[in-house]
Amino acid sequence: MRKLCALAVLASLAAAPAFAQTPPSPLKSKEVFIRDLMQRMTLDEKIGQLRLISIGPEMTKPQIREEIAAGRIGATFNSVRRDENRPMQDAALRSRLKIPMFFAYDVIHGHRTIFPISLGLAASWDMDAIGLSAKVAAQEASADSLDMTFGPMVDVSRDPRWGRTSEGFGEDTYLTSRIAKVMVEGFQGKDPAAPDRVMASVKHFALYGAVEGGRDYNIVDMSPTRMYQDYLPPYRAALDAGAGGVMVALNSINGVPATSNRWLMQDLLRKDWGFKGVTISDHGAILELVKHGVAADSREAAKLAIKAGIDMSMNDKVYGDQLPLLLKAGEIDQRDIDNAVREVLGAKYDMGLFADPYRRIGKAADDPADVNAESRLHRDAARDVARRTLVLLKNEHRTLPLKKQGTIALVGPLADAPIDMMGSWSGAGVPEQSITVLKGLQDAVGDQAKIVYAKGANITEDPREISFLNHIIFDRKEIDIDPRPASEMIAEALKAAAGADVIVAAVGESRGMSHESASRTHIDIPAPQQALIDALKATGKPLVLVLMNGRPLTIERQLNQADAMLETWFAGTEGGHAIADVLFGDYNPSGKLAVTFPRSVGQIPVYYSHLSIGRPWSPGDQPNYHSQYFDEQPGPLLPFGYGLSYTDFKLSDVSLSSATLNKGGSLDASVTVSNVGARDGETVVQLYLRDVAASMARPIKELKNFQKVMLKAGESRTLHFSIGEDDLKFYNSQLQYAAEPGQFLVQIGLDSDDVKQQSFVLK
Ligand code: NOJ
Repeated sequence: MRKLCALAVLASLAAAPAFAQTPPSPLKSKEVFIRDLMQRMTLDEKIGQLRLISIGPEMTKPQIREEIAAGRIGATFNSVRRDENRPMQDAALRSRLKIPMFFAYDVIHGHRTIFPISLGLAASWDMDAIGLSAKVAAQEASADSLDMTFGPMVDVSRDPRWGRTSEGFGEDTYLTSRIAKVMVEGFQGKDPAAPDRVMASVKHFALYGAVEGGRDYNIVDMSPTRMYQDYLPPYRAALDAGAGGVMVALNSINGVPATSNRWLMQDLLRKDWGFKGVTISDHGAILELVKHGVAADSREAAKLAIKAGIDMSMNDKVYGDQLPLLLKAGEIDQRDIDNAVREVLGAKYDMGLFADPYRRIGKAADDPADVNAESRLHRDAARDVARRTLVLLKNEHRTLPLKKQGTIALVGPLADAPIDMMGSWSGAGVPEQSITVLKGLQDAVGDQAKIVYAKGANITEDPREISFLNHIIFDRKEIDIDPRPASEMIAEALKAAAGADVIVAAVGESRGMSHESASRTHIDIPAPQQALIDALKATGKPLVLVLMNGRPLTIERQLNQADAMLETWFAGTEGGHAIADVLFGDYNPSGKLAVTFPRSVGQIPVYYSHLSIGRPWSPGDQPNYHSQYFDEQPGPLLPFGYGLSYTDFKLSDVSLSSATLNKGGSLDASVTVSNVGARDGETVVQLYLRDVAASMARPIKELKNFQKVMLKAGESRTLHFSIGEDDLKFYNSQLQYAAEPGQFLVQIGLDSDDVKQQSFVLK
């Protein structure tokens, strides 16, 4: 059947010379191929290509197939099985022109095998590990017939109240940009047409991470220099790495929604950046232009979106309903529609779908008997990547690593929480396949030690929060509330603790608390869990807190209470094993925060790279007449780039190869890092730059490079960083990107706060 359909496509399009295989000059042939195809398309067929639907309750499967066969749907998302997507591709090949469908999905941090959430991946600062996570995800997704992922999500965010902080790579432009590149390369490989890769569609263009007050879907009001300097580069990095698609953000930018924003979509994306791929609206975003108050009705919304350059409309019929009318009325041109169709067909071409519509669907005979079979998972990769993402926040009296002996009390609502372990946007992952902390610890100790488990508290007892969480993700119940009184649960935990040598408490957020639309005003550990921690602390036993969360939390009190604290994010399918590896010292933690942890919500936004100001506060200063809050200790709780190890590292002073840098030249900054502790370990040496005096205020420091190094106990290594003029460039108030002569500080540290410094002059 499959072969027949493919042959049918070939026959029907025999006139198109570039159809069968990737030709020697793909671009020219792609153009010719698409031009020929478009000449044969009716208006309805063209508009059909612009419709991207979600496989959900809106339409039955037979209805969907009927629509596809009629040429009224171009692509789908949310179906992740070959045997579900094959009949839809068959239907496409029954359509008049037999244009193949593409199948998309939100593959954000893994597909069947779930890797740590993106914020955790970023904390690894390990580009190989992050790239591997994307590559494995692409292999699994493509094996499930998917052609495109709605990722990577590279929205820089400096407001942890925003629930989607979990989905991005933190607060820093440079780190996020580096990750954007490796994610795209991991998803797409050298060619998105490869049958074991998927096309990347970077999102959410643009600035979605800066929604006001961290309230999801809210406005973004931002100066052009900040946009260009801090928020836009990661999208650009993803596109420079070849991402074939762009998903457009739900927010407005300085009053104009991204979905109708011609400056964003045309001037910046197409003209300045030269993007040649497909643009996709976010879910229902075109119709939301009415609610944004920029379109009077759906007709005007469709007009604004197509004119702005939104090629595909996600999960609505607005283009189908309105574009023919708009065209007839002369309110849009045929060219507006053709431009969009060309990009959709171009993406399909680039995904290799014209050459073989079944390249990721395969033959029915080869379908996996069980899509969730263990053998389809990549557990080793997931465990190795996950342990690199864990950040040791505190370790007093060398509480960690734990010994595999005696009795360990494991308590907390997240200790045995398979759904939460996977984090939000966990694709096609199956909670039952994830390793919880409890299972991880049990597997690690075998019969060498005793693990006594008690839940100890509910995630939250707040009815409002419970009702939100249990409605948030599809129709699954996200959190199970234990009906017992809090006091009874705590008593049970204390009983477990009574006979233990050490207490490990897994606390924090459920995954739904750090998800789309899950904005929080209090980013603390919810009250019932805090009561549990207080009770555990009162036992006087060594207390290890294992945090699970998708955003920075205000954890000053818990950090004081804990003897050791490990930040584990939502660590994925192999999370429990990875956490056990670190807790028992089988892996020496090396993660560093990709986001600043505030002391309190009132400090937000707090991020390391803020602009210089006239009255900064520095340690030792009196509080008066300095920029700080008088009712809070100044500075963050934990700085960007922070993370401990079971060994100790020391940095030498920084040496520069020259005190001057000539335009166009480069200089070498070197530093010797020594492992002065007793264990082998890895750390991240971070290089920041500061432009001391420029035509406008510049950040007090900006990450410009880093190296993750493994050093044996007692080993030292000198690291070299090359600094060139490009590293010193910034967008000035006229948006010119240039380096300005003058003094620069080179700051190198193991976190963004504690740095060694040297200076040079750009001539
Ligand atoms: C809405 C989200 O904002 C977006 O990130 C996602 O890709 C789409 N829904 C599709 O699931």
